[in-house]
Amino acid sequence: MAQEDIFKKLVAHCKEYGYVFPSSEIYDGLGAVYDYGQHGVELKNNIKRYWWDSMILLHENVVGLDSAIFMHPTTWKASGHVDAFNDPLIDNKDSKKRYRADVLIEEHVAKYEEKAEKEIEKARERFGDRFDEPLFRQTNPRVAAHLEKRDALVARLSAALNANDLAELRQIIIDNQIVCPVSGTCNWTEVRQFNLMFATEMGSTAEGASKIYLRPETAQGIFVNFLNVQKSGRMKIPFGIAQIGKAFRNEIIARQFIFRVREFEQMEMQFFVPPGSGIEWFHRWKKLRMQWHQALGFGAACYRFHDHDKLAHYADAATDIEYRFPFGFKEVEGIHSRTDFDLRRHQEFSGKKMQYFDPGLNESYIPHVVETSIGVDRMFLQIISAAYREETIDDGETRVLLALPPALAPVKLSVLPLVKKDGLPEKAREIIQQLRLDCRCLYDEKDSIGKRYRRQDAIGTPFCVTVDHLSLEENTVTIRHRDTMQQERVSIDRLPGIIEEKTSLKTLLRRLDAI
Ligand code: GAP
Repeated sequence: MAQEDIFKKLVAHCKEYGYVFPSSEIYDGLGAVYDYGQHGVELKNNIKRYWWDSMILLHENVVGLDSAIFMHPTTWKASGHVDAFNDPLIDNKDSKKRYRADVLIEEHVAKYEEKAEKEIEKARERFGDRFDEPLFRQTNPRVAAHLEKRDALVARLSAALNANDLAELRQIIIDNQIVCPVSGTCNWTEVRQFNLMFATEMGSTAEGASKIYLRPETAQGIFVNFLNVQKSGRMKIPFGIAQIGKAFRNEIIARQFIFRVREFEQMEMQFFVPPGSGIEWFHRWKKLRMQWHQALGFGAACYRFHDHDKLAHYADAATDIEYRFPFGFKEVEGIHSRTDFDLRRHQEFSGKKMQYFDPGLNESYIPHVVETSIGVDRMFLQIISAAYREETIDDGETRVLLALPPALAPVKLSVLPLVKKDGLPEKAREIIQQLRLDCRCLYDEKDSIGKRYRRQDAIGTPFCVTVDHLSLEENTVTIRHRDTMQQERVSIDRLPGIIEEKTSLKTLLRRLDAI
């Protein structure tokens, strides 16, 4: 099935099974804003918990913060967002559709990559076990030609972005005959800059009100509290401050479901280090964050780093962790070495010293910062995309399942009485009573067992327990594993231990800690 069709099915699945709904749907929705349903909110909370605990519990020197969404407007002058938080936009005159010029070009870059990958795939099929991929990549002229074109385009794009040359961005689009996906024409307007911050007013009277912004990132709340946390927690550098919270961006090109939305949550950590050690810490965090993603078990091949050629105004090194979504490799998380840019600018604009006295060096300095920044919603989409499967099973039937990492699954266990009589529902309720404080359990007695299993597969429940007549005699149940569909008979007394071991966040964190 084409990747596009899989993605459409995934979006429909999220709605049908209570994961994600369009916002204010009864009024026809609101562009690029979504609500999370009964299972979605649980998955989201579990993702946040996984991130939070991996930061706060696994690192003695990382502490938390919850800063306000509204901040003094000068914050955004100091951070550079008022002047430089822009997207380069271009309109197609025929379709009247608006695009980000850099994204149009990046999508064209990805096409060259796809073409090269297709050649490699064909060769792999042709040569079988004898296929030497590195050699083929180096020597095949068609692959080399596609990759050369890709590299040339990437270099031209990054030069234009670095020079903020909007005319050149347009010229790249024209020279490469990049057409509007809707009209199919190359009839483009000029490229213009568009600021992404939402503004509102604080204060009750028109004269007294002042313009403030809905934060476009949570990071600035951490910077302005750097000294509060350092002093009140007697923190010694190096140390980090982690925060999870809402952020808002007036994304013009909001597509691909919850990948790019206007209201979203970020999980950001700023790690404060001595001047001169930013790059070393950048590499350490790069490795740690990739391990965090890979510990979920979707396979290392789904992820890659994308080191930036064009650096944001605050960074001296940057990389993205990209995941292979059904619509291609895309950023899930950004890791930046932000130098002392933010603290220095806040010192300048506020007139307050943002320095740390280092007892080891016996000197004061403005610390440098390494940032890890990931969107909860985007991570949600990554997990759901990786977990969604359609399988043909023995009887020719298709089962749709979400093979979610058990520690993140919204429901850990479903308890199913074989029939609605003979004391089986009561026994099932007893099991739930025993486990309900450890994990989220569901009770389901409607329809055949097969149908009930399918329902649980579709919401990603890792374990189903069936209570039958033997359960009353022997105090045992069958436990069915979602991914393998295998069943085993276990004593009810063993259930809490099995569920804890297989589904608790601790198991995942231990795996991470052991790396
Ligand atoms: N403080 C740095 C910062 O905000 P960013 O690359 O703009 O950097 C970090 O954003 C992460 O936030 C991204 O990797 C992505 O996961 C998430 N993110 C950014 N914009 C988003 C949007 N419009 N919708 C959903 N997630 C978004």
